[in-house]
Amino acid sequence: MERGRASPLRWRGPWILCLLPALVGGQPLAAGEVAYQEQTVTGVRGRAVELSCGPAAASAAPAVVFWSFTGSGPPRAVAVGSGGEVVVAPGAGTLGRVTLRNGTLELRELRAAAQGRFLCQGLFPERGRLRIGYAAILLRVLVPVSKPFVRPTAAVAPEGAAVALTCAVREGTEPLSFSWQHREPRGGPSVSPAGLGGSGAELRLTPANRSHAGWYACTVHNEVNNHTSEPIYLDIVYGPDEPAISVEPFSPEQGGFSAGEREDVVLSCLAPSNPPSRYVWLHNGSQVHTGQTYVIAAIARAQAGTYTCLAENTHLHTRTQATIVLTVYYPPAGSPSCSVLATSDLRDVALRCRWLGGFPPARLRWVGPQEEEEEEEGVMGNSFSMATSIQPGAATRNGSSFSCLASHPTLPQGAACGTTLWVPAGGPSCAAAATKGDEYVMLRCRWEGGTPPVTLRWHDSGGRALGDPVPSAAVLVLSANGSLGGREFVCAAAHPLWAAGAECRLRLEVPELEAERSEVAVLEGSEARLACRQRGGSADLGAAVAWYDAKEREVTPGLAKYWLERGEAWVNLTIRDAEWPGDGGIYRCAAANAVGSASLPVRLRVDRYPAPPNVTISKLRYTRARTEVRLEWRTQGTGNLTGFVVQRRQAKKPPRRVPGPWETAAGDIEPHSRDRRLGGLDPAVVYAFRILAVNHRTAGHPSEVQTPAEPPFEAYPAVMGAATVGMLVATVASFLAVRCVARHRDALPWLHDLLFRTAGPGAQEPIGMPEDAETAASREDGAAPAPEDPSAPSAAAEPLSAPPDTTDDQPVNVTITVTATP
Ligand SMILES: *[C@@H]1O[C@H](CO)[C@@H](O)[C@H](O)[C@H]1NC(C)=O
Ligand SMILES: *[C@@H]1O[C@H](CO)[C@@H](O)[C@H](O)[C@H]1NC(C)=O
Ligand SMILES: *[C@@H]1O[C@H](CO)[C@@H](O)[C@H](O)[C@H]1NC(C)=O
Ligand SMILES: *[C@@H]1O[C@H](CO)[C@@H](O)[C@H](O)[C@H]1NC(C)=O
Ligand SMILES: *[C@@H]1O[C@H](CO)[C@@H](O)[C@H](O)[C@H]1NC(C)=O
Ligand SMILES: *[C@@H]1O[C@H](CO)[C@@H](O)[C@H](O)[C@H]1NC(C)=O
Ligand SMILES: *[C@@H]1O[C@H](CO)[C@@H](O)[C@H](O)[C@H]1NC(C)=O
Ligand SMILES: *[C@@H]1O[C@H](CO)[C@@H](O)[C@H](O)[C@H]1NC(C)=O
Ligand SMILES: *[C@@H]1O[C@H](CO)[C@@H](O)[C@H](O)[C@H]1NC(C)=O
Repeated sequence: MERGRASPLRWRGPWILCLLPALVGGQPLAAGEVAYQEQTVTGVRGRAVELSCGPAAASAAPAVVFWSFTGSGPPRAVAVGSGGEVVVAPGAGTLGRVTLRNGTLELRELRAAAQGRFLCQGLFPERGRLRIGYAAILLRVLVPVSKPFVRPTAAVAPEGAAVALTCAVREGTEPLSFSWQHREPRGGPSVSPAGLGGSGAELRLTPANRSHAGWYACTVHNEVNNHTSEPIYLDIVYGPDEPAISVEPFSPEQGGFSAGEREDVVLSCLAPSNPPSRYVWLHNGSQVHTGQTYVIAAIARAQAGTYTCLAENTHLHTRTQATIVLTVYYPPAGSPSCSVLATSDLRDVALRCRWLGGFPPARLRWVGPQEEEEEEEGVMGNSFSMATSIQPGAATRNGSSFSCLASHPTLPQGAACGTTLWVPAGGPSCAAAATKGDEYVMLRCRWEGGTPPVTLRWHDSGGRALGDPVPSAAVLVLSANGSLGGREFVCAAAHPLWAAGAECRLRLEVPELEAERSEVAVLEGSEARLACRQRGGSADLGAAVAWYDAKEREVTPGLAKYWLERGEAWVNLTIRDAEWPGDGGIYRCAAANAVGSASLPVRLRVDRYPAPPNVTISKLRYTRARTEVRLEWRTQGTGNLTGFVVQRRQAKKPPRRVPGPWETAAGDIEPHSRDRRLGGLDPAVVYAFRILAVNHRTAGHPSEVQTPAEPPFEAYPAVMGAATVGMLVATVASFLAVRCVARHRDALPWLHDLLFRTAGPGAQEPIGMPEDAETAASREDGAAPAPEDPSAPSAAAEPLSAPPDTTDDQPVNVTITVTATP
């Protein structure tokens, strides 16, 4: 383009030579002193550069100067200067802003087109002459680098892929050099990546890995300047890696982790990934949680099992997983239990400790009393859930304590139970008892207490074992049977801590009875006491003592006749008011238990009082009045007596002329009296009298019957008159006496009985009383004795028993022999 433009200063070779004389004003030219220089100058585009013509040492500025430029095209004039006048060639603007001062060409805002050869020709005034100078200047124009930019092959790349970053620059004078800076995704210092391949403008990440992610910038340098790009971000996606599971609290186990029940457990999963993993938790294969951390508050035993952490890279759709086994520990329920058992034939003690359940099972250990002294000695085994230790009995003192110590991961304090081995004081006690109805006999043996309990076993006297050994109380049941009587049984007690053993013995005793007296004799009317008791100690079988009376009737309480007294030992039978002969006989004291019975006869003899003496009437006559008789008598022979009874009856009853019944005329006659007045007679009646001696209840033989004799003097009519009155008085007196006795029956018992008892079924009236014979023999009238009217009340016939036969040993069998006196 410059070529096309007509320029007035276009260089025309020798043109300057023509011009010179005009320029220098006539000064001579020093032709032979032409200087030529050639140099290289560097400028930077946009900046300024000065090109001087001739060496800087040349002090003087040229008088005339001419600058031309040869670039890629033909040479062309740039500027001409002469003195103060300067002409810049048009078109020099393509080189920059051109100025020329004192021969020096200054290019400001240098342009790239200014690169080329500048030539200057000048005339330099020198000591009055002009010297011609030439200078050629080679100008290099340097271009500063522009701002580079980074171009990656991909903004996002998976790990392992080949990634390259290119640093591009629009312009800049070669040579260019490149440098790279890399900064971590989340800040940090920029570092130059080391060991990367590629040329300067290219950064090769082959293969790319996660550490390559981040900000990249490149800087371009050249001679002139340097320039740095804006950072660009390279994302490397990767993962997830194999997850790592952490468990809090940390308690690694063989093959997993463990936690105590009700603990808070935190499971965390970490699987490095870009973008970050999505986490899913599975328990035993079922999803339970989404998120990196799974908190199990107060873990339950059912929450044990496998926990799988599933990590997913949602960008890459890749997954990884890891699994742990989590065990949940829980202690067994309750507390450990200790028990003790005698073993190996009762010589050793088996200590047993149990605590079942829990996970893992509790560890149990028996610790003995020696533990304090010898550390190793007391440790007796170590096992799970159940621990048994055999302790030799002989080596164990009474009162030794043993403990079972339990340990479990969930129980920091552990747990324990204990036992103390001891033998109870004393010894076994034996007892026998019969069941109701005496069907069975139970032998009981007891010895309570002790750890382990004492073992008891029954044996017979021959040493044969009966029944099984049992603790504390052994009962042997035997079928009640007479063959058991007198047999002995032994209860043997054994305890491991007591080698000697102990026993108690028991004999099954048939009851044995003992009477105070085997024969008891009482007089009639008194009380008889029969005493009986069991002998020996075997009251266990509960034999009851019973009394049987002479008629083999069992005596029961509440009978009027008998009175039964049961004391601690004695059972006493009292027979009240012993009667002869009915109460006499053999009484029996009997006792029976399950193994036998006993019976003991006791003879009761009811003795009568000895017979009172015979009595004869020595005198019987009317007093002056015929209403009263005077009776005198005497006794014959020996014999005790307690009184006399006088009886009378009508000698003859007029209608039938049979004697009336005997009635008591006087019953309270003192034993020393020998006479008596008896009033209250009916003068019209002829009475017959008799008298009997009485010893307690025994009446003697009645005297002969007599009728009163007439008084000795004759006063019959007067007597008869008075007799009627006297008879009345006597009747009243007799009546009063009877009433008195009736009222005082307690004071005069026998007399009451004598006078008022009526004939009962128990009363034995002697058959054929002798008085009948007497009557027949009396001087009454010689009439044949008539049988007495049985229905007629006879005071005399009933109460008076026959006189006892003093030689008779057996009162029961006494019979009264009646002899009729001719
Ligand atoms: C040019 O040179 C002369 C003499 O050497 C000097 O006096 C003058 O100041 C210079 N002019 C410029 C613009 O440098
Ligand atoms: C990534 O690659 C660089 C160089 O290739 C290497 O030095 C570095 O260890 C790698 N990092 C990983 C995490 O692989
Ligand atoms: C890059 O240029 C700056 C000025 O722009 C300079 O201070 C620095 O030293 C240069 N760096 C290099 C390595 O040339
Ligand atoms: C998980 O499995 C463990 C062991 O197999 C089991 O003890 C636990 O009860 C199971 N839990 C559930 C909820 O299935
Ligand atoms: C054994 O010791 C206990 C107390 O521990 C005691 O009561 C018992 O009498 C003792 N037994 C013997 C046989 O000494
Ligand atoms: C009593 O027992 C023995 C043996 O125990 C037996 O031989 C006898 O027959 C039994 N007697 C009765 C009456 O049961
Ligand atoms: C029974 O008789 C005995 C022997 O005479 C006597 O020791 C005991 O006290 C009497 N018992 C009663 C309860 O009367
Ligand atoms: C008493 O009288 C009875 C009968 O009259 C007579 O058998 C008996 O021998 C007499 N006793 C005495 C001691 O005279
Ligand atoms: C009479 O009784 C007394 C005392 O009661 C007695 O000592 C005496 O032996 C008795 N005489 C006759 C004959 O029984």
